[in-house]
Amino acid sequence: MSRKAVHIAMNGVTGRMGYRQHLVRSLLSIRDQGGVLLDDGTAIFPEPVLVGRNAERLRQIAERHGIGRWTTSLDNVLSDPGIDVYFDAQVTTARESSLRKAIAAGKHVYTEKPVADSLDGAVQLARAAREAGITHGVVQDKLFLPGVIKLRRLIKDGFFGRVLSVRLEFGYWVFEGDGLASQRPSWNYRKDRGGGIVLDMFPHWHYLLEDLFGPLQALYARHATHIPVRWDEQGAQYDVTADDAAYALLEFRSGAVAAVNSSWAVRVNRRELLELHVDGTAGSAVAGLRDCAVQHRVSTPMPVWNPDLPDPIDYLAQWTDVPDNQAFDNGFKVQWELFLKHAAQGQPFRWDLAEGAKGVQLAELAMQSSAEGRRIEVPPLDA
Ligand SMILES: NC(=O)c1ccc[n+]([C@@H]2O[C@H](COP(=O)([O-])OP(=O)(O)OC[C@H]3O[C@@H](n4cnc5c(N)ncnc54)[C@H](O)[C@@H]3O)[C@@H](O)[C@H]2O)c1
Repeated sequence: MSRKAVHIAMNGVTGRMGYRQHLVRSLLSIRDQGGVLLDDGTAIFPEPVLVGRNAERLRQIAERHGIGRWTTSLDNVLSDPGIDVYFDAQVTTARESSLRKAIAAGKHVYTEKPVADSLDGAVQLARAAREAGITHGVVQDKLFLPGVIKLRRLIKDGFFGRVLSVRLEFGYWVFEGDGLASQRPSWNYRKDRGGGIVLDMFPHWHYLLEDLFGPLQALYARHATHIPVRWDEQGAQYDVTADDAAYALLEFRSGAVAAVNSSWAVRVNRRELLELHVDGTAGSAVAGLRDCAVQHRVSTPMPVWNPDLPDPIDYLAQWTDVPDNQAFDNGFKVQWELFLKHAAQGQPFRWDLAEGAKGVQLAELAMQSSAEGRRIEVPPLDA
């Protein structure tokens, strides 16, 4: 078996996503398994080059994992013709300019979402990438969650009949940072640093909901900043300038409606941090990160409203978990493998920067809807 090294400049690798999901759980894990096999039998073998701002932290990560190369100069690494792919997991505001440089340098690019912090920027990136003829891709990890894979299986098998509605519930309590440290970085709560739950989560909701239920047609959204003051990584108090919750109604072209709640100020009373409750004429399902429970029309109980008596029906007991029936790999890693295959073969990638731009569009429309207090059509995007 021949082996082909693919050199990947990884920017933002000291961050939560860059380090854990993309470096350790994806690229290092792909190296451990011997690479990614192409159809012709060649194994693509990732060689990460760490890029960032803090030399000491990069050196530590490189040493910990036996990685030979790291640099604090993006320009140097991009001018190296031996670098094949540029990957970006930096804070959102730093992304657009770095991606633009990488595209201009002729590298294939793969990036975390949102692809940019404005729709204009996202569309320009998509166009530049297309003109450059490179392979470009955006992380859409939720498509590869076990619970979502099970839900997609149900849809393909016609389990739901006609899908009527979707209730998406996402969120958990993010500690304010006084006393207990916050479990999310403070830039998430600062508008000028690319923060806000709408910009963070609506790109996910866009690709996830359209993949499962088809094109979106319109939305109404209302966002809020429930917790006005938080404490940062240094323990300093700051004013929250970004939204930390959003409540939206999304309409699909099919006629189905999704109620989508996203919040970092909610205490979890569900099985998983993300849940999609889908009701159809023939059956219903509740899918999360890993689980997916179903109830078919034929086993649907008949509730009768009577607050005077204890309800005799144990509703939750009447759902059945879809069995795993297959091995599920880490979703970030699965998508990396697909991207590396496409880049190595010079093929376009299905989840590209134009798709990423649609996610930013939905976030912008949600912000606009909230600001103007009205329902907004989702126009086709020519990216
Ligand atoms: N796909 C997902 O599920 C998912 C989940 C969380 C975050 N994300 C995205 O990943 C990106 C990184 O998020 P994170 O949670 O890892 O953030 P983080 O704060 O943990 O990491 C940010 C990284 O960017 C670097 N950086 C570059 N310029 C910076 C600047 N000016 N200020 C601060 N840091 C700077 C930091 O050094 C660090 O390596 C974001 O764009 C976010 O939207 C995606």
